[in-house]
This record gives sequence, structure tokens and C-alpha cells, in this order.
Amino acid sequence: MDKLIIEGGRPLEGTIRTCGSKNAVLPILAASLLTGETLRITGAPRLADVSTMLDILRDLGAEADQAEDGTIEISAEGDIRGEAPWERVRRMRGSVCVMGPLLTRLGRAKVSLPGGCAFGVRPIDIHLKGLRALGAKVRIEHGYVVCEAPPGGLRGGRVFLGSANGPSVLGTANVVMAATLARGTTTIEQAACEPEIVDLCDCLVSMGAKISGQGSPMITVEGVDELHGAEHPVIPDRIEAGTYVLAGALAGGQVRVENCVPTHLGALLDRMTEARVPYTSGEDWIETEAYDLGERPPRSTDVTTHAYPGFPTDLQAQWMALMTRAEGLSIITERIFSDRWMHVPELERLGAQLRRQNTAVVVRGTRELSGAPVMASDLRASAALVMAGLVARGSTEVHRVYHIDRGYEAIEERLQGIGAAIRREPE
Ligand code: EPU
Repeated sequence: MDKLIIEGGRPLEGTIRTCGSKNAVLPILAASLLTGETLRITGAPRLADVSTMLDILRDLGAEADQAEDGTIEISAEGDIRGEAPWERVRRMRGSVCVMGPLLTRLGRAKVSLPGGCAFGVRPIDIHLKGLRALGAKVRIEHGYVVCEAPPGGLRGGRVFLGSANGPSVLGTANVVMAATLARGTTTIEQAACEPEIVDLCDCLVSMGAKISGQGSPMITVEGVDELHGAEHPVIPDRIEAGTYVLAGALAGGQVRVENCVPTHLGALLDRMTEARVPYTSGEDWIETEAYDLGERPPRSTDVTTHAYPGFPTDLQAQWMALMTRAEGLSIITERIFSDRWMHVPELERLGAQLRRQNTAVVVRGTRELSGAPVMASDLRASAALVMAGLVARGSTEVHRVYHIDRGYEAIEERLQGIGAAIRREPE
């Protein structure tokens, strides 16, 4: 396992190009199971999670390869197995989205329950409720979800996907994919509106699916007999882009993030304006302007995470890193994953002043962070620790960086490119 060593305090300046979206490409990869023809995905990121998904697809019987430039070709012709084992699924929760495609194509699917994750219980009841509404029989057996379509296959219906925690992103992905080959029309209410769902639907449409309403809480899918191959460019990763924008804001540097979609980051940009962080943006870029945090620190600004278009939970830890250097008190409230606070004790090791109260953390801005060894515990928490390390006095070591490699392609090279002193070493 590797660690990242960061010498803090270097000015950051330069340009970073965002990669394709991890959370868009994972369900799109699963969608390749819906056809025997080749799906070609361009602009896909080269990440550990993508490799894991490709391994799962190969286990299931597909041919799948990723080229140096990120392009992925998958062909799921021939015999496809209907079982995704625990050894694979436990490595990445995103793999549960093979369930919908397998069920609708083969009439059955057996997918390991993914288990919990670093930030708490992660149920999949919404996925199962949606598949049941399409006529599937679903049971839990020996740690696996076993789904069976009725004779003649899944049938369209009205599916309500709401829950106490809001809509489910991957639950929506599973039900949309299952509905593409179902008989009749499916109406999904309280669907997730995330850009990653829109991208999945756009890919499915180019494969021949009939879908409308994506991006709104009501998605309609008219089942078709079969889907065909297609080529699809994946959207830029809004969370990766937001992370680098926030790194620029935290360092007070002029950092231009290119190949991003600023309208996907409306909530973040709104909070940055409120916090008096200077930035400009164009059609496909965002640039933080250089400013002196000592003279004019960011204004403490509260954030509450919500489903899209609200403030993303996947940027909550990085926002906290910024607020550690703001003036005054800010309250960060987590509404999606109430235990997603693994970065809190680690940021405290760097000198942040934080107090957790149930589902919120109060941040008291401090003028200076100081480097220390810290432990990465999940993907976004790790990104926040790297960001904090970039501005902390002295040296910070971020251990267990495999979490970062799950979602940030070549993070140290990208940060070196804008002036950061960061290197990777084996533990
Ligand atoms: N939920 C349920 N029942 C379900 C599914 C979800 O109660 O059956 C709850 C969850 O516990 C949570 C809320 O609903 O409170 C939303 O969870 P959601 O299902 O939307 O999460 P997900 O689809 O499993 C995706 C991303 C996450 C991201 C969340 C929220 C992928 C591969 N993962 O997860 O990304 O945080 O949506 O936006 O798309 C990350 O990239 O670091 C990451 C964790």
C-alpha cells in the first residue's frame, strides 16, 4: 500500500483537466450487459473502481478492455453468467448496479449484498423495491440477493423510488436499466436527478432505449425488445472538478479546472460566492483567483448536503477542509450519509477545530494547520486530507491512499502540475 507525502505551503497555480466521471461510468459499464453488441465508452477515467467493474464484467462472461487513453470496449455477447460474487461486490458497492441489467437480460440475477461501508449502513432496499415493482421475485439467501423475473420477463409499471433519505442514485440506475427491456412502460417517481443518471440514460438511448424525463424526478422508460451497441462519451467528473477547485480556494492560488461542467456544480459555486472565495467560470472551466487568506480569509459558510442539485455529500469533506481556514464558525450538516465523518478526527490531527454534534459538525476557522501523519479512510475523506496537507505547515503523510486511487486518477501528478510538493512512496 502507498502513502502520499506532502510538503505544505507551496503556492498553487496552473491548470488541471478533469477526467471522465467515475460515478457515471460505473453504471454505464453495467449497461453493457444489456446487449450482445459492443459498447464503446470514450473519456473514461483510469481508476481502481473502473478496473474492479471491468473484472466483474469479465467474471460475468463479457470481454472488456480499457486503452491507455481511457477508452473502454465491452462486448457481452455469448453466455453471460447471472451471478456477481461477494469477493468482487464487497470491494465496490457500485457493482450492485449489474443487478438490473442481469435480471432483465437473463430473467434472473444473483448478486452479493454489498455490506456496510466506511461511512455506515448502506441499504439497497430501494433497488429491490423498484425491481419488485417490475414483477421480479426477490429474496435474500446466504448473503445474496436472488431476483427472478416472471415468465415472459419483467413488465413495466409505476415505481416510486423515494425514501426517508431521499432518492437513490444507483437504485434509479438499476431500475432504469431493468425497465429498458421490460414489456410496456415504466414510470419512475422520485428518481435521482444526478447528472450521472442523465448520462446513463443518454447512453441507454444511444443503445436504442426509449427514455424520457431523465434529470427530473419522473423518468419514463418504454420497454424495447433489444438494445444494440453504441459509442458514448462519458461526462466530466463533477466531484473531481469540485475537489480541485476547492484545493485552489484553500491555497489561495490561481487554479484553472478545465473540462468540467460548471452547471453541475451550481451548489458549490453558490457556497463559494457566499464564502467570498474569488473565482470565475466559463462554459467548461472554473478558475479560482489568487487571494491572500491571511488578509481576507473565506467567510464561514454553512453547508447542508442534499441530493442533486443540492450540495453533494461527495464534496462535504473537501468543503470542511476549506472552512478550517475560514473566519468564524460554520456548520456542516450531512443529510445523505449521517456517519460520513471519518475525516473529522484526521483533520483535527492537522490542527482543525471541529466539534461533531449528531449529523452536523461545527468548524471554527483557524489561521494555520500543521502537518501530521493521517489515515485515509474513504475516497472523499482522503481527498480532504490531501487538500489540508497542501496548506498545512510542514510535512503531512496520508496513509492508505488506495482509497484515493479508487476515484482520483493520478492525483499526485495533477497536483504536482500546479506546483504542489507531493510524492507517492510505498508504506
Ligand atoms: N438509501 C436507502 N436505501 C437504498 C439506497 C440508498 O435508504 O436502497 C439511502 C442511503 O443510505 C443514503 C441515500 O439513500 O442515505 C442516498 O444513497 P444513494 O443510493 O443515492 O447512494 P449510492 O447510489 O449508493 C452514489 C455514489 C456515491 C454518492 C451517493 C450520493 C456511485 C457509485 N456512488 O451512491 O458516491 O455519495 O450516490 O450522491 O455512484 C463517492 O463517489 O465517493 C460516493 C460514495
